[in-house]
Amino acid sequence: MITIKSEREIDLMRRAGKVTALAHQAVAENIRPGIMTLELDKIAEEVIRSHDCTPAFLHYQGYPASVCISINEEIVHGIPSTRVLKEGDIVSVDIGAIYKGYFGDAANTYPVGAVSAEAQRLIDVTKQSFWQGVEYAKAGARLGDISHTIQAYVEANGFSIVRDYVGHGIGSAMHESPSIPNYGTAGRGVVLRENMTLAIEPMVNQGTHEVRVLDDGWTAVTLDNKLSAHYEHTLLIKSDTYEILTMGH
Ligand code: MF3
Ligand code: CO
Repeated sequence: MITIKSEREIDLMRRAGKVTALAHQAVAENIRPGIMTLELDKIAEEVIRSHDCTPAFLHYQGYPASVCISINEEIVHGIPSTRVLKEGDIVSVDIGAIYKGYFGDAANTYPVGAVSAEAQRLIDVTKQSFWQGVEYAKAGARLGDISHTIQAYVEANGFSIVRDYVGHGIGSAMHESPSIPNYGTAGRGVVLRENMTLAIEPMVNQGTHEVRVLDDGWTAVTLDNKLSAHYEHTLLIKSDTYEILTMGH
C-alpha cells in the first residue's frame, strides 16, 4: 500500500528534508584532500542532532554510522572510517534525518579537488538523469515514466544503471512502498497520486551495472571496479508538479 501523507506529515517531512539538506551542505563544504570520511560523518551527525533530528541510518539493520560515504568504485553503503580522501576521488554521500518520526533521505556525489573529465561526466549524467526523470513526478503519471526516462538518459550517455538497489517510498519509515527502480517501461507501473512522497535515487556505473558487496557486509562496489555515482532527493507529488523536500530554502 502506498500511503498518502497528510499536511501535518508533509510539514514534518519538509523539516526532516531541510535538515538533511543542511547536513549535505556542511559535508560538501568540508570535502577536500586529506579529510577522513569519519570526520565527514561527525559533521553530518552534528548538524542533524543540533536541529532536533536523529541520523536515519545509524543502527538501521545494524548499520554502524550516521551517513554512508562511498568512494570511487563504491556504489552505496560505504562505512565512514579513518580512510582519507585524496585528490581525484569522487565521493558519494548519502544522508538521512528523522524529525518527529518522519524521514528525509538524499545523496550526492562530490569531486575531491580536480577529477578526471570522465569522472566529472559520470557525476553530471547521474545528477541530470534524476532531473530528467522527475519531470514526470506529478499526479496521474506512471512510475515507469520516471524509471524509463532515467535509464534512457543514462544509457544514451554510455553509462549503466544499477539494478540491485532502487529508490523507494518514504515517510514514517525510510523504506515504504513502492520500490522505484531506475530502469523500466514508460506507461507502466503505479499511477502517482497527490501527496505521495518518494525517494528517487539513480546509481550509475561507468562500466558494468553488476554489483558485489564487500566482506564488511555493507559496502556495495562495482564488479569491474570502475567508478559509480549516486544522486537522490526525497520529493512530494503534487497535482501538476513535485516539490523537492531535501533542498535548503
Ligand atoms: N539512503 C539509503 C536508502 O535509500 C539508506 C542507507 S542504508 C543504511 O536505502 F543502512 F545505511 F541506512
Ligand atoms: Co534512499
